[in-house]
Parts: sequence; structure tokens; C-alpha cells
Amino acid sequence: MSSALNKMSVEDFDVSGKKVLVRCDFNVKMENGVITSDKRIVASLPTIKYLIDNKAKVILCSHLGRPKGEFNPEFSMKPVAARLSELLGIEVKMAEDVVGESAQTLAAGLKEGEVLLLENVRFEPGETKNDPELSKKFASLADLYVNDAFGSAHRAHSSTTGVADYLPAACGYLIQKEIQFIGGALENPKRPLVAILGGAKVSDKIGVITNLIDKCDTLIVGGGMAYTFMKALGHHIGNSLLEEDKIELAKEMMDKAKAKGVKFLIPVDNKVGKEYNENTEYMDVNSDEIPDGWMGLDIGPETQKMFADAVKDAGTVIWNGPMGVSEWKNFASGTIAVATAIANSNAISIIGGGDSAAAIQKLGFADKMSHISTGGGASLEYLEGKELPGIAALNDKK
Ligand code: 3PG
Repeated sequence: MSSALNKMSVEDFDVSGKKVLVRCDFNVKMENGVITSDKRIVASLPTIKYLIDNKAKVILCSHLGRPKGEFNPEFSMKPVAARLSELLGIEVKMAEDVVGESAQTLAAGLKEGEVLLLENVRFEPGETKNDPELSKKFASLADLYVNDAFGSAHRAHSSTTGVADYLPAACGYLIQKEIQFIGGALENPKRPLVAILGGAKVSDKIGVITNLIDKCDTLIVGGGMAYTFMKALGHHIGNSLLEEDKIELAKEMMDKAKAKGVKFLIPVDNKVGKEYNENTEYMDVNSDEIPDGWMGLDIGPETQKMFADAVKDAGTVIWNGPMGVSEWKNFASGTIAVATAIANSNAISIIGGGDSAAAIQKLGFADKMSHISTGGGASLEYLEGKELPGIAALNDKK
């Protein structure tokens, strides 16, 4: 597996006068045809602006939602073209199709510094099958290919991966930053490397824990999945979330960490509730004293201190997943405490996409983090140590 850190970037090409096909992740949140969050569009601007400033003819493409390989106006990229035009301050032309006559004519007629957006790549049935015929059609539109769609880099589709077989291929700034931070932390971290993993299920994080045990100095487990680890230690966990079939695995993971000299921290106390309900009665109890009929819904105050202490002297922190039911006010303090500790530390801080990224944004700590990943599934697979096809397909630096 070649290192993701060694991939060519958009700056390694002479783009002047060239048609450059850029795969973005414009899979934005929409309601009734209106974009409700343009974060992903904004995140793609540095690469697009670089190409405009350097006189490229820019052809953008992306998926939006999951249309089933046929045209569906509900998933048209037109609202994205309109928002992009506003953000760039120039007209972004919109093709009526993906690689058909409209796309070909408009791509051929582009002038330097102009921008064209193709229709939703998932309107083509070959896209998600990584069909070589479709990949060739994408390639025929351009001279160079740039992938900047980190959120889709775990998908081996025509526009994310296959097209790179037929054009010189590099990453854009957004993917480059993801590689620099996540790849850097995995391959050559500033130590000590502390990983904080939360979320409801052990089964969702097995791959990440397994990969990180081999790399980090301290591994912290919180959130709903921590109760399976407590059970593995023989604790009484009341009605807390439990994956019975993962108890043995949880034990093996803790044994492995011990054998490797990796500190493995799980909650020593918890905020427990009577019911799985936002306004339920609650109290703090030690991890080996959760009474029958109560369930753990957040980490407790001692655990907050313990996790914050582990973060204090870290060289690098990777965080993925909330420490409790953080969307409920009464059970959000563990997640807030971890976010605050990371914000106050001098460590290189990397926040996985999804819930932890949302928590950081909501708390107003975004600018205190070194990197907040733009990919949910993609950042998880990256942390699992998997090769992401959308990155693997790019040319290596010479
Ligand atoms: C995402 O939103 O996670 C990416 O855009 C990938 O979308 P997908 O899961 O539909 O491939």
C-alpha cells in the first residue's frame, strides 16, 4: 500500500489552459430543494479558486443523495451551481447531463478561469459500479483529474476512483489536509498519541480500536460502547447498553493494550438515568455500582477529570464519537468536558467527522482544533487503517 502522504497535489500540475475535472463532495443537506448547510461547498472553494486563479478550465462534479442511476430532479445539482456562483462571484455553468452532449459541448467551450458543474454523477447507472466505460467518458471531458471529495474517498466509484486510470490524477487542498492530519497522525504522530473513542456501539468502532491499539499511547473509550468494556471487567452495568456478543472481544482488546503497554481508559463513574429519556431522573455512580434498573447515559465527573488529564500532555489527540447522549442537555457534560480539554490542550487535535465534529462546531470550539474532518464514513475507514480507493487511485509523487 503506497503512503497517502506521498500523493501528487493540484500544485504539482501546470493547470494553465488545461481542462481539469474536479470531483467534489457537494452532498449537501437539502430541504425542499433548498440547501440548509453549504459547509461542504465552502470547504471545496480553496481548490476551485486555485484553479480559477491559475487559468484552468474547471469542470466540477459530485453526487448528491442516492438517486438510483437515473435522472431525478429531486437530486439535481442546480441549487449547488447557484450557491457556488454566489460564493465564487462568477457564473457557474450547469450541464443538463453528466457525460452526455450537454456536458461535452459545455466542457469543450470552456474558457480559462470559467467553471462548469456537471449533473449528479449518480444519475449515471455506471457510477457506483465503477464502470470503466463511464470512467473513460469522464476522462474524455478533461486533461487532468483532481479528487477533492474526501467524504466520498471510501467509495470506489467511477468519478472518485475509475477516472484516475485514464488521466493524470492528483488531490485537491481539502483531501491534502485530511491526509496531512489523519495520515500524519497514523503514520508519524507527535507523541504521546491519545485516541478518544465514543459512540453507542462497540461493533461500529472495532476496526478503529484494533488499528489504534497498535499506534497510540493512550486509548480512551467512552459513550454507550464503554458499558460492554465495563461488563468485560465484571462490573454490574444495570440496564446500560450492552453488546453481549462483544464482551469477549472487549476483554481481548483490553488485554492486548496491556500487553503492548498502551494505557486503556474506560469510565470510572457515570451519570445514570432511570429511563432512556431526556428528562429522566439521574445521578452519578461509580462504574462498579450501577444499580439495577438504571442505565449509563454519560461519563461521570471523575471520569471527565481522568480523560481531561490524559489529554493535557498529549502531542496528538484523535477524537471520534460522543461520551454520552450529548444531544440531551442533562447528559451532554461528558462530551463538553472532553471537547473543552482538547480545545485547551496544545496537542495536534483531529476530530473525526459526524457527531464529534457537530459537537465541536456547536460548542464554538472549531477554530481551536487543528483539523475537523469533512468525512464521516471516510474518516472512520481511514482511522481503521483502510486504504481509501479515492486516494489510492491518485498518482504518487515522483
Ligand atoms: C457522505 O455524505 O458521507 C458522503 O457524501 C458519501 O455519501 P454516500 O454514503 O451516499 O456514498
